[in-house]
Amino acid sequence: MKIGKKVNIILILVFVSGILISGVALSQVLEQKAKSEISSNAQDLMHMVNSIRKYTNTQVEPILEPRFDTEERFISQAIPSYSVREVFEIFRYDKKYSNFLYKDATLNPVNLRDKADVFETKIVNNFKKSSNLKSINGFRNISGENLFYIARPFKIEDESCLRCHSTPEKAPRSQIATYGRKNGFGWKLNEIVATQIIYVPAQEIFNNVSRSFYLVIGVLSSIFASIAIAMNIFLKKIILRRLKNIAKVAEKVSIGDMEAKFEKQDKDEIGALAESFNRMRYSLEIAVNMLNQRIR
Ligand code: HEC
Repeated sequence: MKIGKKVNIILILVFVSGILISGVALSQVLEQKAKSEISSNAQDLMHMVNSIRKYTNTQVEPILEPRFDTEERFISQAIPSYSVREVFEIFRYDKKYSNFLYKDATLNPVNLRDKADVFETKIVNNFKKSSNLKSINGFRNISGENLFYIARPFKIEDESCLRCHSTPEKAPRSQIATYGRKNGFGWKLNEIVATQIIYVPAQEIFNNVSRSFYLVIGVLSSIFASIAIAMNIFLKKIILRRLKNIAKVAEKVSIGDMEAKFEKQDKDEIGALAESFNRMRYSLEIAVNMLNQRIR
Protein backbone atom coordinates (compact mmCIF):
# COMPACT_ATOMS: atom_id res chain seq x y z
CA MET A 1 0.00 0.00 0.00
CA LYS A 2 1.31 3.46 -0.90
CA ILE A 3 2.28 5.87 1.89
CA GLY A 4 -0.36 8.41 0.79
CA LYS A 5 -3.09 5.80 1.03
CA LYS A 6 -1.91 4.60 4.46
CA VAL A 7 -1.78 8.14 5.83
CA ASN A 8 -5.26 8.85 4.45
CA ILE A 9 -6.72 5.70 5.99
CA ILE A 10 -5.25 6.66 9.39
CA LEU A 11 -6.53 10.23 9.01
CA ILE A 12 -10.04 9.04 8.13
CA LEU A 13 -10.10 6.59 11.05
CA VAL A 14 -8.95 9.25 13.51
CA PHE A 15 -11.38 11.86 12.16
CA VAL A 16 -14.42 9.57 12.01
CA SER A 17 -13.87 8.32 15.56
CA GLY A 18 -13.10 11.89 16.71
CA ILE A 19 -16.36 13.20 15.24
CA LEU A 20 -18.36 10.24 16.57
CA ILE A 21 -17.03 10.62 20.12
CA SER A 22 -17.40 14.40 20.16
CA GLY A 23 -20.87 14.07 18.58
CA VAL A 24 -22.12 11.73 21.29
CA ALA A 25 -20.59 13.85 24.08
CA LEU A 26 -21.94 17.08 22.56
CA SER A 27 -25.46 15.74 22.08
CA GLN A 28 -25.56 14.56 25.68
CA VAL A 29 -24.34 17.88 27.04
CA LEU A 30 -26.76 19.86 24.83
CA GLU A 31 -29.72 17.65 25.69
CA GLN A 32 -28.97 17.97 29.39
CA LYS A 33 -28.72 21.73 29.03
CA ALA A 34 -31.99 21.95 27.10
CA LYS A 35 -33.79 19.84 29.68
CA SER A 36 -32.54 21.95 32.55
CA GLU A 37 -33.52 25.15 30.69
CA ILE A 38 -37.07 23.88 30.05
CA SER A 39 -37.35 22.57 33.58
CA SER A 40 -36.21 25.86 35.06
CA ASN A 41 -38.80 27.73 32.90
CA ALA A 42 -41.51 25.42 34.19
CA GLN A 43 -40.38 25.80 37.80
CA ASP A 44 -40.38 29.61 37.53
CA LEU A 45 -43.95 29.51 36.21
CA MET A 46 -45.02 27.08 38.91
CA HIS A 47 -43.62 29.47 41.52
CA MET A 48 -45.56 32.35 39.93
CA VAL A 49 -48.75 30.28 39.91
CA ASN A 50 -48.33 29.46 43.59
CA SER A 51 -47.76 33.12 44.41
CA ILE A 52 -51.10 33.97 42.76
CA ARG A 53 -52.67 31.13 44.77
CA LYS A 54 -51.28 32.55 48.00
CA TYR A 55 -52.43 36.08 47.13
CA THR A 56 -55.98 34.91 46.46
CA ASN A 57 -56.00 32.84 49.59
CA THR A 58 -54.71 35.53 51.94
CA GLN A 59 -55.97 38.76 50.37
CA VAL A 60 -59.05 38.06 48.25
CA GLU A 61 -60.84 35.17 49.90
CA PRO A 62 -61.13 36.78 53.39
CA ILE A 63 -62.84 39.83 51.87
CA LEU A 64 -65.34 37.84 49.80
CA GLU A 65 -65.98 35.01 52.23
CA PRO A 66 -68.94 36.68 54.05
CA ARG A 67 -70.80 36.84 50.73
CA PHE A 68 -70.65 33.08 50.01
CA ASP A 69 -73.94 32.41 51.80
CA THR A 70 -75.77 35.54 50.73
CA GLU A 71 -75.01 35.79 46.99
CA GLU A 72 -77.08 33.96 44.38
CA ARG A 73 -74.04 32.89 42.40
CA PHE A 74 -70.81 31.68 43.94
CA ILE A 75 -67.96 34.20 43.78
CA SER A 76 -65.40 31.93 42.15
CA GLN A 77 -62.82 34.75 42.08
CA ALA A 78 -62.20 34.04 45.78
CA ILE A 79 -61.00 30.49 45.07
CA PRO A 80 -57.22 30.14 44.46
CA SER A 81 -57.61 27.31 41.92
CA TYR A 82 -60.01 29.49 39.94
CA SER A 83 -57.90 32.66 40.02
CA VAL A 84 -54.73 30.77 39.10
CA ARG A 85 -56.43 29.08 36.17
CA GLU A 86 -57.99 32.35 34.97
CA VAL A 87 -54.69 34.25 35.19
CA PHE A 88 -53.03 31.43 33.28
CA GLU A 89 -55.68 31.55 30.54
CA ILE A 90 -55.01 35.30 30.17
CA PHE A 91 -51.28 34.55 30.07
CA ARG A 92 -51.99 32.19 27.16
CA TYR A 93 -53.77 34.86 25.06
CA ASP A 94 -50.34 35.89 23.83
CA LYS A 95 -49.50 33.63 20.87
CA LYS A 96 -46.02 33.06 22.24
CA TYR A 97 -47.48 31.37 25.33
CA SER A 98 -50.53 29.72 23.80
CA ASN A 99 -49.01 26.26 24.14
CA PHE A 100 -48.32 26.62 27.86
CA LEU A 101 -50.86 24.89 30.08
CA TYR A 102 -51.67 24.88 33.76
CA LYS A 103 -54.15 22.72 35.59
CA ASP A 104 -55.06 21.62 39.10
CA ALA A 105 -55.81 18.22 37.60
CA THR A 106 -58.28 16.72 40.05
CA LEU A 107 -59.83 13.25 40.24
CA ASN A 108 -63.19 14.55 41.49
CA PRO A 109 -63.30 18.32 40.86
CA VAL A 110 -65.95 20.92 41.65
CA ASN A 111 -65.36 22.55 38.27
CA LEU A 112 -65.20 19.95 35.51
CA ARG A 113 -62.59 21.88 33.55
CA ASP A 114 -60.17 20.78 36.33
CA LYS A 115 -60.92 17.09 35.74
CA ALA A 116 -57.74 15.04 35.37
CA ASP A 117 -57.48 13.22 32.04
CA VAL A 118 -56.20 9.62 31.81
CA PHE A 119 -52.54 10.72 31.79
CA GLU A 120 -52.97 13.07 34.76
CA THR A 121 -55.03 10.51 36.68
CA LYS A 122 -52.07 8.13 36.50
CA ILE A 123 -49.83 10.86 37.93
CA VAL A 124 -52.25 11.55 40.82
CA ASN A 125 -52.41 7.81 41.56
CA ASN A 126 -48.60 7.62 41.59
CA PHE A 127 -48.53 10.41 44.17
CA LYS A 128 -51.19 8.59 46.21
CA LYS A 129 -49.12 5.38 46.11
CA SER A 130 -45.79 6.88 47.19
CA SER A 131 -46.35 9.66 49.67
CA ASN A 132 -42.69 10.76 49.68
CA LEU A 133 -42.80 11.50 45.94
CA LYS A 134 -42.64 15.29 45.72
CA SER A 135 -42.54 15.89 41.98
CA ILE A 136 -42.78 14.06 38.65
CA ASN A 137 -41.57 15.44 35.35
CA GLY A 138 -41.30 14.26 31.78
CA PHE A 139 -42.51 14.79 28.25
CA ARG A 140 -45.99 14.50 26.86
CA ASN A 141 -47.35 14.92 23.37
CA ILE A 142 -50.60 16.89 23.21
CA SER A 143 -52.11 17.30 19.72
CA GLY A 144 -48.74 16.99 18.01
CA GLU A 145 -46.98 19.38 20.39
CA ASN A 146 -44.08 18.07 22.45
CA LEU A 147 -44.56 19.42 25.98
CA PHE A 148 -42.46 19.12 29.12
CA TYR A 149 -44.42 18.86 32.34
CA ILE A 150 -43.78 19.21 36.04
CA ALA A 151 -46.39 17.76 38.36
CA ARG A 152 -46.68 18.12 42.14
CA PRO A 153 -49.08 16.42 44.53
CA PHE A 154 -52.04 18.46 45.77
CA LYS A 155 -52.85 17.43 49.32
CA ILE A 156 -55.69 18.64 51.52
CA GLU A 157 -53.77 19.80 54.57
CA ASP A 158 -56.24 22.27 56.02
CA GLU A 159 -59.48 21.37 57.81
CA SER A 160 -61.10 24.57 56.49
CA CYS A 161 -61.00 23.21 52.91
CA LEU A 162 -63.51 20.53 53.89
CA ARG A 163 -66.28 23.06 54.41
CA CYS A 164 -66.73 23.18 50.64
CA HIS A 165 -65.26 19.84 49.61
CA SER A 166 -66.68 17.26 52.05
CA THR A 167 -70.49 17.20 51.77
CA PRO A 168 -72.99 19.40 49.89
CA GLU A 169 -74.78 20.09 53.20
CA LYS A 170 -71.73 21.86 54.64
CA ALA A 171 -71.01 23.85 51.49
CA PRO A 172 -72.23 27.45 51.04
CA ARG A 173 -75.57 27.79 49.34
CA SER A 174 -74.18 29.79 46.46
CA GLN A 175 -71.64 27.03 45.70
CA ILE A 176 -74.43 24.45 45.37
CA ALA A 177 -76.45 26.87 43.25
CA THR A 178 -73.54 27.41 40.87
CA TYR A 179 -71.77 24.06 40.76
CA GLY A 180 -74.42 21.57 41.90
CA ARG A 181 -74.21 18.81 44.52
CA LYS A 182 -72.58 16.16 42.40
CA ASN A 183 -68.95 17.13 41.93
CA GLY A 184 -66.05 17.95 44.18
CA PHE A 185 -67.30 16.41 47.44
CA GLY A 186 -66.06 13.56 49.62
CA TRP A 187 -62.51 14.85 49.90
CA LYS A 188 -60.65 13.82 53.10
CA LEU A 189 -58.05 15.53 55.24
CA ASN A 190 -54.48 14.63 54.16
CA GLU A 191 -55.78 13.05 50.97
CA ILE A 192 -54.01 13.73 47.69
CA VAL A 193 -56.92 14.85 45.53
CA ALA A 194 -55.14 16.37 42.58
CA THR A 195 -51.87 17.23 40.92
CA GLN A 196 -50.71 20.71 40.13
CA ILE A 197 -49.39 20.26 36.63
CA ILE A 198 -47.71 22.74 34.34
CA TYR A 199 -46.88 22.08 30.68
CA VAL A 200 -44.27 24.08 28.76
CA PRO A 201 -43.46 23.62 25.06
CA ALA A 202 -40.20 21.78 24.52
CA GLN A 203 -40.00 21.49 20.74
CA GLU A 204 -38.48 24.88 20.04
CA ILE A 205 -35.74 24.47 22.63
CA PHE A 206 -34.92 21.02 21.22
CA ASN A 207 -34.90 22.47 17.69
CA ASN A 208 -32.38 25.09 18.84
CA VAL A 209 -30.32 22.34 20.41
CA SER A 210 -30.22 20.29 17.22
CA ARG A 211 -29.31 23.43 15.25
CA SER A 212 -26.32 24.07 17.56
CA PHE A 213 -25.41 20.37 17.35
CA TYR A 214 -25.29 20.37 13.54
CA LEU A 215 -23.41 23.68 13.53
CA VAL A 216 -20.67 22.42 15.87
CA ILE A 217 -20.39 19.08 14.04
CA GLY A 218 -20.27 20.96 10.71
CA VAL A 219 -17.48 23.23 11.94
CA LEU A 220 -15.55 20.25 13.37
CA SER A 221 -15.93 18.28 10.12
CA SER A 222 -14.72 21.19 8.02
CA ILE A 223 -11.71 21.68 10.33
CA PHE A 224 -10.96 17.96 10.00
CA ALA A 225 -11.43 18.08 6.22
CA SER A 226 -9.05 21.08 5.88
CA ILE A 227 -6.46 19.26 8.00
CA ALA A 228 -6.79 16.19 5.75
CA ILE A 229 -6.42 18.28 2.57
CA ALA A 230 -3.40 20.16 4.01
CA MET A 231 -1.78 16.87 5.08
CA ASN A 232 -2.27 15.44 1.60
CA ILE A 233 -0.76 18.49 -0.12
CA PHE A 234 2.15 18.47 2.34
CA LEU A 235 2.72 14.75 1.82
CA LYS A 236 2.64 15.03 -1.99
CA LYS A 237 4.72 18.23 -2.39
CA ILE A 238 7.22 18.00 0.46
CA ILE A 239 7.77 14.28 0.86
CA LEU A 240 6.50 11.97 -1.87
CA ARG A 241 7.55 14.05 -4.91
CA ARG A 242 11.12 14.44 -3.59
CA LEU A 243 11.34 10.74 -2.64
CA LYS A 244 10.19 9.85 -6.17
CA ASN A 245 12.94 12.10 -7.64
CA ILE A 246 15.59 10.48 -5.47
CA ALA A 247 14.34 7.02 -6.47
CA LYS A 248 14.43 8.00 -10.17
CA VAL A 249 18.05 9.28 -9.95
CA ALA A 250 19.14 6.26 -7.89
CA GLU A 251 17.68 3.99 -10.56
CA LYS A 252 19.54 5.84 -13.32
CA VAL A 253 22.82 5.54 -11.35
CA SER A 254 22.14 1.84 -10.77
CA ILE A 255 22.06 1.20 -14.49
CA GLY A 256 25.37 3.05 -15.01
CA ASP A 257 24.26 6.61 -15.83
CA MET A 258 26.93 8.47 -13.83
CA GLU A 259 25.75 11.87 -15.13
CA ALA A 260 22.49 11.59 -13.20
CA LYS A 261 22.63 13.98 -10.22
CA PHE A 262 20.38 14.55 -7.22
CA GLU A 263 18.80 17.99 -7.24
CA LYS A 264 19.70 20.42 -4.52
CA GLN A 265 17.54 19.57 -1.52
CA ASP A 266 16.27 21.33 1.61
CA LYS A 267 18.25 20.57 4.76
CA ASP A 268 15.83 18.03 6.23
CA GLU A 269 15.79 14.22 6.54
CA ILE A 270 15.05 13.76 2.83
CA GLY A 271 17.81 16.27 2.03
CA ALA A 272 20.22 14.19 4.15
CA LEU A 273 19.12 11.04 2.30
CA ALA A 274 19.81 12.73 -1.07
CA GLU A 275 23.20 13.90 0.26
CA SER A 276 24.11 10.32 1.26
CA PHE A 277 23.02 9.06 -2.15
CA ASN A 278 25.15 11.75 -3.77
CA ARG A 279 28.19 10.63 -1.79
CA MET A 280 27.48 7.01 -2.69
CA ARG A 281 27.18 7.93 -6.36
CA TYR A 282 30.51 9.80 -6.13
CA SER A 283 32.27 6.81 -4.49
CA LEU A 284 30.72 4.52 -7.08
CA GLU A 285 32.01 6.83 -9.84
CA ILE A 286 35.58 6.70 -8.40
CA ALA A 287 35.41 2.92 -8.02
CA VAL A 288 34.15 2.45 -11.58
CA ASN A 289 36.88 4.80 -12.92
CA MET A 290 39.60 2.88 -11.04
CA LEU A 291 38.23 -0.39 -12.38
CA ASN A 292 38.21 1.01 -15.92
CA GLN A 293 41.89 2.13 -15.57
CA ARG A 294 42.94 -1.32 -14.34
CA ILE A 295 41.22 -3.01 -17.23
CA ARG A 296 43.04 -0.78 -19.72
C1 HEC B 1 -65.81 28.40 50.16
C2 HEC B 1 -65.68 27.12 49.55
C3 HEC B 1 -64.33 26.55 49.31
C4 HEC B 1 -63.33 26.42 50.20
C5 HEC B 1 -63.25 26.85 51.65
C6 HEC B 1 -62.26 25.75 49.47
N1 HEC B 1 -62.65 25.49 48.18
FE1 HEC B 1 -61.59 24.54 46.80
N2 HEC B 1 -62.98 25.02 45.41
C7 HEC B 1 -64.18 25.61 45.66
C8 HEC B 1 -64.87 25.85 44.43
C9 HEC B 1 -66.21 26.47 44.27
C10 HEC B 1 -64.03 25.40 43.41
C11 HEC B 1 -64.25 25.47 41.91
C12 HEC B 1 -63.67 26.79 41.40
C13 HEC B 1 -63.66 26.89 39.85
O1 HEC B 1 -64.71 27.19 39.30
O2 HEC B 1 -62.60 26.68 39.28
C14 HEC B 1 -62.84 24.86 44.08
C15 HEC B 1 -61.80 24.28 43.42
C16 HEC B 1 -60.73 23.69 44.04
C17 HEC B 1 -59.71 22.92 43.35
C18 HEC B 1 -59.62 22.67 41.85
C19 HEC B 1 -60.35 21.46 41.47
C20 HEC B 1 -61.81 21.60 41.43
O3 HEC B 1 -62.44 21.03 42.32
O4 HEC B 1 -62.34 22.31 40.54
C21 HEC B 1 -58.83 22.50 44.30
C22 HEC B 1 -57.61 21.66 44.05
C23 HEC B 1 -59.29 23.02 45.55
N3 HEC B 1 -60.44 23.71 45.36
C24 HEC B 1 -58.64 22.84 46.72
C25 HEC B 1 -59.01 23.47 47.90
C26 HEC B 1 -58.18 23.49 49.08
C27 HEC B 1 -56.82 22.84 49.20
C28 HEC B 1 -58.82 24.24 49.97
C29 HEC B 1 -58.38 24.60 51.35
C30 HEC B 1 -57.15 25.36 51.46
C31 HEC B 1 -60.07 24.67 49.37
N4 HEC B 1 -60.14 24.18 48.10
C32 HEC B 1 -61.04 25.43 50.02
C33 HEC B 1 -64.67 25.92 46.90
C34 HEC B 1 -63.92 25.98 48.04
